[in-house]
Amino acid sequence: MDEKRANGRYYTRGNPFQLEPFQTWADASDLEQQTVLEPFAGANDIPRLMNATRLQCRDWAFFDIKPGAKGVVQRDTLADFPKGFNVCITNPPWLARNSATRRGLPFPKAIRYDDLYKYALEQCLAHCEWVAAIIPEAFIRSGLFLERLCDFISLVPWPQQKPLEKNKARNTSYMFEDTEHPVGLALFAPDATPDVRIWRNNRFLGPMSELHRHLPQPSSNRSIVFNDPQGNLGLIAIDNTVSASIRFCSPSELGDYPIRHQGRSITRIGVPWHVDIDTLNIRLTKIREKTHDVFLTAFKGIRRDGHYRRRLDWALARSIIDVGDLRLQLEMNVE
Ligand SMILES: C[S@@+](CC[C@H](N)C(=O)[O-])C[C@H]1O[C@@H](n2cnc3c(N)ncnc32)[C@H](O)[C@@H]1O
Repeated sequence: MDEKRANGRYYTRGNPFQLEPFQTWADASDLEQQTVLEPFAGANDIPRLMNATRLQCRDWAFFDIKPGAKGVVQRDTLADFPKGFNVCITNPPWLARNSATRRGLPFPKAIRYDDLYKYALEQCLAHCEWVAAIIPEAFIRSGLFLERLCDFISLVPWPQQKPLEKNKARNTSYMFEDTEHPVGLALFAPDATPDVRIWRNNRFLGPMSELHRHLPQPSSNRSIVFNDPQGNLGLIAIDNTVSASIRFCSPSELGDYPIRHQGRSITRIGVPWHVDIDTLNIRLTKIREKTHDVFLTAFKGIRRDGHYRRRLDWALARSIIDVGDLRLQLEMNVE
């Protein structure tokens, strides 16, 4: 497993290429006339998936540091990226720097990103006009490479797919055989795009700028202290496996739950004013509905209601508490 992780090898499952936004991108890139580059081809799953749709390209060029199928040329494409291709469709290697360190795996020193896939994507974008890449869903919150990004599709397993053995009970299948990691398909164009269209599978959620409008102003109010054992506000910051259950609560609800310095899931927060928990929760719910959770980190596992489980990070929680209180104060002042 670790050898597999070292090369970032997880194989694509499911078929994101049948989705509408990809089909539109394929038309715009004139795919039928193109020789498509797959610089991290593994066992050639991507062309197989493409063949299963109505899409055709003129030809393919496959490379991988460890070819997993006939016709894949052995090459370290991160060090020596193939030139002369207009279109690249890939699922690059993913490896988080901290995960590599934790597992004692090598992580190229020269790479300034926190994950190998970001560097791989940078290479694809530097050498190809049209790029389609299956990458972690978290990419959309990284703020990277937005200039040429035209569409981002959060890929949520959909029930009509033939379920994998291990997920049969829930009748869903995941994009990858051996990880339930949340993934997205990023579609890039040759020129700067005015906005990014955000999708969940075939459902258009909105332009990125519009979704952003529903986020509260960032807060740098350091008088709001997270992981404060004496805090006057509780927060359950991750969804359970059933539904969107992140919520603020009374600290007494958390009972003896140990508040750890580094904790990121259940915590107490010290807020130097009286907080109205209901107001904060109404605000949180509204943000989640209006932004479709696009800016909340997704993590492994699909909830029973078919969505990824999400985490509310401290930065967003802080801005909800800060603005929530301001609004409350304003309302109180009006009364
Ligand atoms: C996430 S897998 C994707 C495989 C294939 N694209 C697919 O979707 O099934 C990433 C692939 O990148 C390859 N890889 C990792 N580092 C590489 C490098 N420096 N040069 C070329 N390929 C590399 C791995 O061997 C692996 O096959």
